[in-house]
Amino acid sequence: MTLVSIKNEMTKARRERYAIPLFDVFDMQGMEGLLDALIAKRAPTIVGIYSPFAALPNCHALAAYIHSRADDTDVPISLMLDHGASVEQCLEMLSFGFTDVMYDGSKLPLEENIANTRQVVSAAHAVGAGVEAELGHVGMGDQYDSLGGQRIGFTDPDSVVRFVEETGVDFLAIAFGNAHGLYKGEPHLDLELVAEIRGRVTVPLVMHGGTGLSDEQFRGAIAAGISKINFATSIMNAAADNMRATAAKPDSTMFDISDGIRAAYSKWCGDLYEVFGTASRS
Ligand code: 13P
Repeated sequence: MTLVSIKNEMTKARRERYAIPLFDVFDMQGMEGLLDALIAKRAPTIVGIYSPFAALPNCHALAAYIHSRADDTDVPISLMLDHGASVEQCLEMLSFGFTDVMYDGSKLPLEENIANTRQVVSAAHAVGAGVEAELGHVGMGDQYDSLGGQRIGFTDPDSVVRFVEETGVDFLAIAFGNAHGLYKGEPHLDLELVAEIRGRVTVPLVMHGGTGLSDEQFRGAIAAGISKINFATSIMNAAADNMRATAAKPDSTMFDISDGIRAAYSKWCGDLYEVFGTASRS
């Protein structure tokens, strides 16, 4: 199956209350591990390319490789720019055949976020791609005590309807106590806020910052209305741990060591499909 926009799968996930993961990949080893898991679990998946990596010269070739590997499967796979840094970057990734893009204007004033998101939506929809935007701001876990833990950056439910109507965005990332990377302190998710926002708009809602949350927190967020969960740091850390452990063995080869990336993706993604309810959806 060729790469597809995740729009239809997300509509189904919202209706049936499960979540489709976005896993950021950085190379072929990670992508192969992700494929092992998504094929075994028959789980629709979004492959994320994080904005700074999308800016590297090899991104076009990486996208072509992911296209080719998706053709070898019969499970829906989307290729999405994660945290698109500018309108221009989103347009460039659409020209590389990305099937979905996130434009991240969450640090901008509302009017500017709306205007830029609208431009991305217009270009993306012209080629059948979906667009995610962020309203409110999901910060970093190492600043959790002073930001997310204090409700700073939380999505204002009163601006959600206007944002969705004026931008035409397909998926909306919201801030409700989630944060990127490892949390400093205990993460507390405001699931009432999620449910309230779900009640106001029909677009599927997105939670960034999956690392550090418990299975129970994932299930609670999905029950409250989250339909897409972004996840990266724990997989990257597991890959690094695997490689360090293998490299410490005197006779380990380059192949043994780099296989630690594939193994980490295969294990983590496979387990998370079960928690998110994505397994057997294709
Ligand atoms: P984590 O690294 O916290 O899992 O978050 C990833 C993410 O949200 C990517 O957009």
